[in-house]
Amino acid sequence: MTHTPHDPHAGSAAEAPGLSRRGLLGLAIGAGAAGLAVGAGAGAASGVAIGRAQATDATAAVYDFFGAHQAGITTPVQDHLHFAAFDMMARTDRDDLVSLLQDWSYAASRITQGLDVSATGAVGGAPEAPPDDTGEALGLAASGLTITFGFGPTLFESDGVDRYGIAARRPAGLKRLPAFLGDALDPAASGGDLFIQACADDPQVAVHAIRNLSRIAFGRARIRWSQLGFGRTSRTTAAQSTPRNLFGFKDGTANILATDTAALDEHVWVVASDEPAWMAGGSYLVARKIAMLIETWDRVRLSEQNAIVGRDKGAGAPLSGGDEFTEPDFDATDAAGRPLIPVTSHVHLAHPERNDGTRMLRRGYNFVDGNNELGRLDAGLFFLSYQRSPDQFVRVQRALSTDAMNEYIRHVGSGVWAVPPGAQPGSFVGATLFA
Ligand code: HEM
Repeated sequence: MTHTPHDPHAGSAAEAPGLSRRGLLGLAIGAGAAGLAVGAGAGAASGVAIGRAQATDATAAVYDFFGAHQAGITTPVQDHLHFAAFDMMARTDRDDLVSLLQDWSYAASRITQGLDVSATGAVGGAPEAPPDDTGEALGLAASGLTITFGFGPTLFESDGVDRYGIAARRPAGLKRLPAFLGDALDPAASGGDLFIQACADDPQVAVHAIRNLSRIAFGRARIRWSQLGFGRTSRTTAAQSTPRNLFGFKDGTANILATDTAALDEHVWVVASDEPAWMAGGSYLVARKIAMLIETWDRVRLSEQNAIVGRDKGAGAPLSGGDEFTEPDFDATDAAGRPLIPVTSHVHLAHPERNDGTRMLRRGYNFVDGNNELGRLDAGLFFLSYQRSPDQFVRVQRALSTDAMNEYIRHVGSGVWAVPPGAQPGSFVGATLFA
């Protein structure tokens, strides 16, 4: 495979980015299986664990990059997110796409272990050359970093063109989401040929990941849009407390947990009998950037806030009674015969009982992107859900068309991606698509 720069901006490739397009790849792919089998041990063996710190409790977690499923889905939800959607550059070919996924996998397999993106990293290379790693994570622990990759519908076919020879392998369910009532989508925060979700317990570690992976993509793909998130709005293990979203409500109470393997197999993981076979062990991600009109919400009385959500703001218990984890009773009524959980409440409409048992694994984050000219916070929920088919999201989002919460939210960004199974040691994420 030869890789000549095709992009108009690539003229400066030799001098500007400091990474020849095969710079890291020489280490990763040239070394074959052994080159990709990177872990803390491998890094130490080659003497490259440059300057990373002893982890504190908050940053001690280290998750494998390799495995049957990609990390960052059932992994205990970390506190910070940096999400980026990428578009492939003009005139790239199948080799460019494969080499990009190989380079990304190699770098991800290292940085998730608390190592620099390459063996020479931030400070171990030639003084005359820009370093491979940008360096801002030197001294920081792995911090529970997970990096999750996926493929958008446009990667398979864009304007009728099969750029990478994969159109025939597009999962039938992977297509642009339908329009929903009330959508106010900004194309500049929607779509993308590829996505990378970086989650970590230290925001600088998540940002370092996206920064370096987009740098590695130079000449092949560039960021189309991105989102920073803080404060997880879900939980994926029973040990995690339920966090709160910016409406002040507990969010993630009724989520699918990592220990519930039966629910994961039924609702989250693509199984071998689903088409296409290359997606087995994978999932589908839906991202929705949802603006919250928080100044308006903050003027709503507490009883109405509770009625809109269908749960009690303090304890998170359903309005039909009990504690946070009591199942909602939608038949319970007050003395006047009115349902205790209003039929227009978010929980009533989103509950599996109302949606033929449809469930999803939610993994969203709060965001505040500064403020508007009126001094209002540009804030909301960056909703992320993983499911076995995008139809699950579509079903529930349609059911939410009469949600009383809609008065206080606007969906402003959207995307859907196929999330391939986890990479095997010695291979790369997405390899099954090209097999
Ligand atoms: C800013 C927008 C949103 C806010 C503030 C919000 C908030 C909440 C809250 C507070 C709960 C109750 C606690 C829990 O079980 O997690 C909940 C539950 C839920 N939400 Fe949302 N949500 C939003 C958007 C969405 C969207 C777009 C979907 C999917 C289309 C969705 C699907 C669900 C589901 C499936 C549940 C669990 C229902 C159950 O099983 O009881 N939410 N949400």
